[in-house]
Parts: sequence; C-alpha cells; structure tokens
Amino acid sequence: MSERRGIVTVVGAGTMGHGIAQVAALAGYQVHLNDLDSEQVVAGRGAIESNLSGGVDRGKVSPEERDGALSRIRGVLDLEEAVDSADLVVEAIVENLEIKRGLFAKIEALAPESSVLASNTSSLPIGKIATALRHPERMIGMHFFNPVHIMALVEVVVHPGTSEAVRDRVLEVVRRMGKEPIVVQDSPGFASSRLGVVLGLEAMRMLEQGVASAEDIDKAMVLGYRHPVGPLKLTDLVGLDVRLAVAETLHREIGGATYEPPEILRNKVASGHLGKKAGQGFYTW
Ligand SMILES: NC(=O)c1ccc[n+]([C@@H]2O[C@H](COP(=O)([O-])OP(=O)(O)OC[C@H]3O[C@@H](n4cnc5c(N)ncnc54)[C@H](O)[C@@H]3O)[C@@H](O)[C@H]2O)c1
Repeated sequence: MSERRGIVTVVGAGTMGHGIAQVAALAGYQVHLNDLDSEQVVAGRGAIESNLSGGVDRGKVSPEERDGALSRIRGVLDLEEAVDSADLVVEAIVENLEIKRGLFAKIEALAPESSVLASNTSSLPIGKIATALRHPERMIGMHFFNPVHIMALVEVVVHPGTSEAVRDRVLEVVRRMGKEPIVVQDSPGFASSRLGVVLGLEAMRMLEQGVASAEDIDKAMVLGYRHPVGPLKLTDLVGLDVRLAVAETLHREIGGATYEPPEILRNKVASGHLGKKAGQGFYTW
C-alpha cells in the first residue's frame, strides 16, 4: 500500500463506517463503501459531503481535496464487488461476535489473499473474530474514534497471530490518514474502551442515584477535569446500543461489577432512546 494508492473497502456505512471512508479517501485511497442497507450508503455519502464542505468552510480542507476525496468514494452494495480488489477491508458493522465472524469468513473467500482484514470493533477480541479465518495472520483491529474525521487516535490491535507485516502495513495506512496509532495487545476493551467505559457507566449510576443532573455530571468532568465532552453526552454521541454491547462484552470478559450495565442504560436502549442518532438519549437532540 506504500507505492501506490490502494483500495480500501469499508463494510458498514453507519456512524463509524462513513467517517473511515472519508479519512481513507482524503488520504488518497480509492474507497468502496458497502452496507446491507443502501439507504445507509446514501446517508453516509451525504454526511461525508457535508463534513468535507464544513472542512472547506473552516479552511481545513481545500475545495480540490474535498472534490478529489468525493470522487474516490464509490458505494458498492454487492459484497463481492466491494472486496474483490481490496488492499484493506475495514469492517464497521454491528458489535456482535458471531455476525462479525460470519462476515469475515465471507470476505476472506472473496477478497485477494494479500488483503489485510481489519475490524473497528470497540471491545470484541480480535483473536476471536480471527478464528473465522483460514489465515488469521491477516486479521487486525483498527479502532477509530467518533467522530472519525476529528479524532486523532487509532488503536491498532494485534492478536497473537497477527503478522508483523500486516501490523506494519496498517500502521502506515493510519499515519497516511493523518492519525496517530497506538499498538495494543488483544485484551478486552483494548486501552481506550476499557478505561472510557468505566467513566460512562459510573456517570449513569450517579444519575440513577440522583447525585446530580446529566448536565451537571458532565460539567463536573468538562470543567473539573478538562474533558472535551462529559461522559453522558459522549455516550449519546457513541450510541447507547453500542455502549451497552461494549459493556456487556467487558462484563463477560473481565468479570466483577465494574462493567455491569446499569438499569438506566438497558431501559433507554429498550425504549429506543439510543442517543444522538435517535434524537433522544441522556439528552434531547
Ligand atoms: N459509535 C461509536 O462511537 C464507535 C466508536 C468506535 C468503534 N465503534 C464500533 O464500530 C462498529 C460500528 O459501529 P457504528 O456506531 O458505526 O454502528 P452503526 O449502527 O451506526 O452502523 C452499522 C452499520 O452496519 C451495517 N451493517 C450491519 N450488518 C452488516 C453486514 N453484514 N454487512 C454490511 N453492513 C452491515 C448497518 O446497516 C449499519 O449501517 C461497531 O463494532 C462498534 O463497536 C463504534
């Protein structure tokens, strides 16, 4: 991927997938954006256009860079066509181990043998996803942060079978995207979710116990600790369903009470209050 601009296929065009497509295209890669739902691809493309135009307005991106990036992104609904010439496939679908394993088994059968297969999972063990593959050495975690075009970090998660060549190729792609990589061994929640989720879940328990309002709990972290955004608002941005799935995985994998999902989180997810994307979470959007 160093000498020529390769093809990056992004599977899943939701909150994360469209952002990953955007930064890949801006870095010069040809991007295939795939989703089961064609409306998600259309919406993802619309969000990319609007992000890039916002970037132009703020002087962060030139009009030529915006137009070039948009011209490199193609929505490809057929999975085979999306991956059959890919150098790198980044998966950003629902946080569910069996669904991800099933998808990667299909992708491995369709993609070139030389392609790198990456998951954007926030919490699932990369090694467990890799058990679906005949060649697990191609599998790695590329954990981007939300919103992808703003956040500088990418956790590069290596499982014991990931080859060094695959790790090095991914580090190069991440740097080319203008992001800062950290290499993390495959352990539950990696370095970021394992720490960040503790704060979010404890903030929910404090809200349940009436310690303070959502606004004031968030303010405590923003003004008291200089966090750019409070833990409850961050949960709204991430998606409460996504956070619940991550908490359940960490609770299962690590044990103890730390990651046990609070009732308030389960109840809000059950009633469809999934955060910003649903218009309602801990806040009304
Ligand atoms: N939301 C965040 O802040 C965040 C941050 C880092 C990592 N992640 C991880 O990224 C992944 C995606 O999260 P998201 O928030 O973007 O979810 P999302 O619900 O916004 O988007 C998921 C997309 O995947 C599509 N999809 C589902 N199954 C598919 C399949 N088999 N093939 C193709 N498309 C499929 C859905 O139609 C949807 O468009 C999850 O693993 C999540 O844990 C999320």
